[in-house]
Amino acid sequence: MKIPFSPPYIDDDVRKEVEETLNSGWITTGPKVRSLENEISKYTGIQNVLCVNSWTSGAIMILKWLGVKEGDEVIVPAYTYSATALAVMHCGAKPVMVDVDSEFLITVEGIRNAITARTKAVIPVDFAGWPCDYLSITKLVCEPSVKAMFIPESEIQMKLGRIMVIADAAHSFGAKQNSIPAVSISDISIYSLHAVKNLTTAEGGAICLNLPEPFNNLDAYKYLRMMSLNGQTKDALAKNEAGGWRYDIIMPGLKINMPDICAAIGLAQIKKYDFLLAERKRIFNLYSELLQKHSFFQLPPHDNDSQSSSYHLYPLRIWNITESQRDQMIEEIAKSGVAVNVHFIPMPMLTLFRDLGYNIEDFPCAFDNYSREISLPIYPQLTNEQVVYIVKSVTEAYSKISSGNK
Ligand SMILES: Cc1ncc(COP(=O)(O)O)c(C=O)c1O
Repeated sequence: MKIPFSPPYIDDDVRKEVEETLNSGWITTGPKVRSLENEISKYTGIQNVLCVNSWTSGAIMILKWLGVKEGDEVIVPAYTYSATALAVMHCGAKPVMVDVDSEFLITVEGIRNAITARTKAVIPVDFAGWPCDYLSITKLVCEPSVKAMFIPESEIQMKLGRIMVIADAAHSFGAKQNSIPAVSISDISIYSLHAVKNLTTAEGGAICLNLPEPFNNLDAYKYLRMMSLNGQTKDALAKNEAGGWRYDIIMPGLKINMPDICAAIGLAQIKKYDFLLAERKRIFNLYSELLQKHSFFQLPPHDNDSQSSSYHLYPLRIWNITESQRDQMIEEIAKSGVAVNVHFIPMPMLTLFRDLGYNIEDFPCAFDNYSREISLPIYPQLTNEQVVYIVKSVTEAYSKISSGNK
């Protein structure tokens, strides 16, 4: 049996929506993007949502808008995809890496210890779709002693008067904290709509604006929309209107708008997202039910009274194995036709960051999580029989490598 790791969910409704866009004569940013923004807004309860062409580009734009620059620091977990830190570096600032806990998440205390007078933002990462504790993180950045350390250097920073909380919600579309969408707690959350994500536009990102008073989120949306279009006062659709040719450029913006042809895919998917999420939950729960029978497996964090996942990944860990035994297990699993993955190689282990002086020894929990982790396939199209097969394949791989060590 061949089981891919994460194929996109493409059904007839997706095909129909894409075809309709092709036939409409308008394929770049236009009505489909607006509709997708409205649908994300309805789903999350966040009124102002801006779609862009990736999480990465959206994060760079938000940090630039915040006025993050050389000499500034932004706190990120060491255990994430590099885009989280690269966005910071593209603004000239320093990503300050913090170790994670056994649930793969940055902690409030970790953030507290990393805050300096240079800190402008913190980017917690909802690893695997498991949301960070944004209530506590927001409380921390609002503490009088933490606010007193903050040195605002841009108009936006002055308006906010504290460290900005930007959620890396790349994995967590549909995740909840205290029964509300996790995005309604942080200042800004950015979803990734990349091909392997729960909701996709092939490539894409969605920025949810939830800025506190005295911000006007609609004004921020309008400004950022222009910023995502070269700082141009009119989008292509408006310029395309008869007589609508004249425009102005009012800032050195980026060119990171989402095209309608991409939005069409996400639009078809979001209309059935409740179903898609329930299917992911089915797979997640079935894995947990089958894997918990073996004491050598460590299951990922499970929904509780205050948090629920978007089930983006199933990050299984195996107790008491080394990194090379984990690698051997993946090779064994591959022999049975099952594609698995590892999330993530901690950033300090990657050449770029190592060369900059980050050292994995400073992040023991990130290394421990990584060295024992195997991400199992999880997506709506997986059948229960396939899940049973995957569990059998993983269990046999463990038996093989553990018997080899006796
Ligand atoms: C945690 C995390 N943050 C950010 C990104 C970047 O997303 P994108 O590919 O949409 O730029 C990813 C992508 O995999 C991710 O996993």
